[in-house]
Amino acid sequence: MSNKIFASLKSIGAYAPKKILSNKDLEKMVDTSDEWIVQRTGIKERRIALDDELTSDLGVKASKLAIKRAGLKTRDIDAVICATLTPDFLCMPATACIIASKLGIKNVLAFDVSAACSGFIYILYLAKSLIESGVHKNILIVGAEKLSSVLDYTDRSTCILFGDGAGAAIIGTTENKKEAILDIQISADGDYAHLLMTPRSRATYPKDEKILQYLQMAGNEVFKVAVKTLTNDVVEILSKNNMRSSQIDHFIPHQANLRIISAVREKLDFPIEKTVLTVHKYGNTSAASIPMAMNEAYEDKKIKRGDLLLLDAFGGGFTWGSSLIYFGGE
Ligand code: UT7
Repeated sequence: MSNKIFASLKSIGAYAPKKILSNKDLEKMVDTSDEWIVQRTGIKERRIALDDELTSDLGVKASKLAIKRAGLKTRDIDAVICATLTPDFLCMPATACIIASKLGIKNVLAFDVSAACSGFIYILYLAKSLIESGVHKNILIVGAEKLSSVLDYTDRSTCILFGDGAGAAIIGTTENKKEAILDIQISADGDYAHLLMTPRSRATYPKDEKILQYLQMAGNEVFKVAVKTLTNDVVEILSKNNMRSSQIDHFIPHQANLRIISAVREKLDFPIEKTVLTVHKYGNTSAASIPMAMNEAYEDKKIKRGDLLLLDAFGGGFTWGSSLIYFGGE
């Protein structure tokens, strides 16, 4: 009888555009201050993609690193899944198809997932299921965003929060549970949809001349639900797996707001030294934020094979989720 196959996080890669938009730059654009932004969010700067640099381009750069670090060739990839709320095209073709094409990956499953800032946890969940079904061997998952394209740079309540970037990972197979994705829980509640939205579709509002052009968010209301939901969620996934927070080597939360991260960290009684923080340099990069943060810790040589990671995310939809992962890469 063959051994059970588990899904494993084999590698991570990320890409941040070169152009930096600092709080000081934003002071010249809207009625805000570096002090307010740092105090309320922890963000100091964020990256902005070039006009001709698309979400797929950011995703391709992150993917190349992840594929190389997994010791694979593009021909080894048998599925590409992309999470994004800023696709190259509105729904069709999927950004995953464009990323696959730009990488020279052909004739494989490729599709996008719309789960906003929880996107990376959602595609991790899908990749895990596809691997453990026995059908797939090496899945490329990509969280990529060009959020600057949906921001209103006259609206101080949103434009200070978000940035561009991409993160990618290879989900492969293992027979060793101590190198496997241990658990993922994801959820959604569409009753909160109106609190965080990107531009409306013509299909929904055919006669609406003034189609909403930019991302809109009721920040304070989102904040309150995010804190409550995420603290409950991480407590639940730990208890479901009979684990204590002291067993976690790295807490890698969605990087939306330092105050949200601190609230969850305090609830878990989790030390800041083991918490991966990139919100100060990249802001909120939505689906890219967790893999970008994970990549940072990996490149700083903090994450090694067998380390236990705790991920959490919350975003538009509302969607949320968390995951416990034994890192399976080199
Ligand atoms: O990733 C998806 C999930 N998204 C999130 O998790 C984001 C959640 N929300 C947040 O991070 C926070 O709610 C914000 C950072 C967006 C806002 O912080 P807040 O403490 O909730 O502030 P607030 O919205 O209650 O606004 C407080 C004040 C208001 O002024 P008044 O009405 O008290 O006079 C705002 O107009 O701060 C004002 N304000 C600003 N002031 C300076 C709002 N934005 C700014 C700004 N600079 N950029």
